[in-house]
This record gives sequence, structure tokens and C-alpha cells, in this order.
Amino acid sequence: MNSPEIMQGMLTKNCSIGQKVLYFDEIDSTNRLAKELAADRAAHGTVVLAGKQTAGRGRIGKSFYSPEGGLYLSVILRPTQEISDLMSLTACTAVAVHKALSEFDITTKIKWVNDLFLNDRKICGILCEGGFHPQSGGLDYLIIGIGLNLRKITDIPQELRNIFTDIETETGLLIDRNSMAAAILKQLEFQLSNLSNHSFLKTYSKHSYTLGKTVIVIHEGIEKTAEAIGFTQDLGLIVRFSDGTEAVITSGTARFPQDTP
Ligand code: BTN
Repeated sequence: MNSPEIMQGMLTKNCSIGQKVLYFDEIDSTNRLAKELAADRAAHGTVVLAGKQTAGRGRIGKSFYSPEGGLYLSVILRPTQEISDLMSLTACTAVAVHKALSEFDITTKIKWVNDLFLNDRKICGILCEGGFHPQSGGLDYLIIGIGLNLRKITDIPQELRNIFTDIETETGLLIDRNSMAAAILKQLEFQLSNLSNHSFLKTYSKHSYTLGKTVIVIHEGIEKTAEAIGFTQDLGLIVRFSDGTEAVITSGTARFPQDTP
């Protein structure tokens, strides 16, 4: 059952997110369409939902493998003053998806900044993008894009085999896409309403995949290993070097020994 009405029926009437849902069995990219709609004045909370993407977008210009059996959704936000920080928005979204999954008894870990891991493999990626007003130059809209692997991924490309997994493989659960989408949207509505007070950081840290692990960072021009020990409010990673000194690292300057290039 793919109809957006079924999913909307699961949302409460006072949810601003999900008042309008566009559903596609297959699309190139829900973020691509959401951006186009947002630039054309689509309302805050409009959702684009798909069962498969042929040109899913990932972070740093990468593609996002989006076969059938996944949940691919994008939410259009008309930002208020507080929602202008993409790092907080993506981390807050990660917490919302983590909490939605826990409603189905699935406990994920959040890899800094915004990947969700289940049993040491990625099951969810998040891509937040912004668009500027052509006249004023101010932030016009934000898009939250979420890709979640629900069903067994078949034909997974070789290079992703040890990196990605899905809920069915890890838990045996066959979760209905509409129920999961509704749970995510409800959590998103709640978490975003608390974005400015950073309360999501408590859950973010508690379920971190990153804290306590060794990271390789570029610090003062030199590559060093360090231990990840905490997060700043704006999602910098606090690391401690072997000599006991600490530094705050931004996402482009750290990697994990187990990461692929
Ligand atoms: C990443 O892990 O690099 C981020 C992946 C984000 C994928 C989602 S799927 C829904 C939305 N539409 C896209 O084209 N990308 C995002």
C-alpha cells in the first residue's frame, strides 16, 4: 500500500509536516524534486516520498544507492531564524529517525554527523540542502532528505557490500513503508520544534557510534590519530590526542580508520 493518504492518516492533524505528500513508485531523486517544488513556492512541510530512486543524491556530490524496498523521502522546510544551521538540522534529523526506528524496537547508532548504523553497517543516510532566495539572497528553503533501507537489498554493488545493510536482513522485520514514514515525520516535527535548545544532543551523544572511537584528523596541517570524546553544540567533534590535548574538528577534516576513501 503506497498511497500517501494512508500515511497521512497516520499523522496527527496538527502536524505541519506531511500535510501534503507526493508519492512516486520511482523517481530520479526526491531531493531534486523537492528543491524544484520549493523554488516554485511549495508549502512548508510538503513531503516527496518514493519507493525507488534512479539518481539518488548523497553527500559531497556522491550518489546514493536507492533500490526498490527502501524509503526515500524529502521534506521541504520554510526556515525560521532558528533553522539555519545545516549541521544541527542533519544531526537533529538523525535523532528523529533513530527515535522513529526505536518505536519499532530497532536500536541504531548515529555516526557523526548523520549516518544511522545497525550492527556496524549503514542503514540510513541524510542529506540536507538549502536554497537561497533569488532576490533577497536570504535562505528561502531547506530540504531534509532521508534514505532508509527497509527491505533486503538485492544486487548491491560490490563496493557497498560491507558498508550498507537493511532492516529486514538485520532484524527479520518487514516494516511497512507508510508506517515508518509516518513515524519519521512525527518525530521530525517534534525534534525540529526543539532544535534551537539543542536538546536532541543528549540522545545524539547517548547513541553515538563515534564517541570513544579512534579518528584520524588533520590538525594544524598534520594528520594525527585521536579519540572522539564529545560534541560541541554546533556539532564539532571534540577529540583528545595522546598527549592529552584536545581540539574541535569539523566534519571535512576527520575520518575513521575503517572508512573507505
Ligand atoms: C548520504 O548518506 O550520503 C546521504 C544520502 C541521502 C539520501 C536521501 S534519499 C532521499 C533524498 N533524495 C536524494 O536524492 N537523497 C536523499
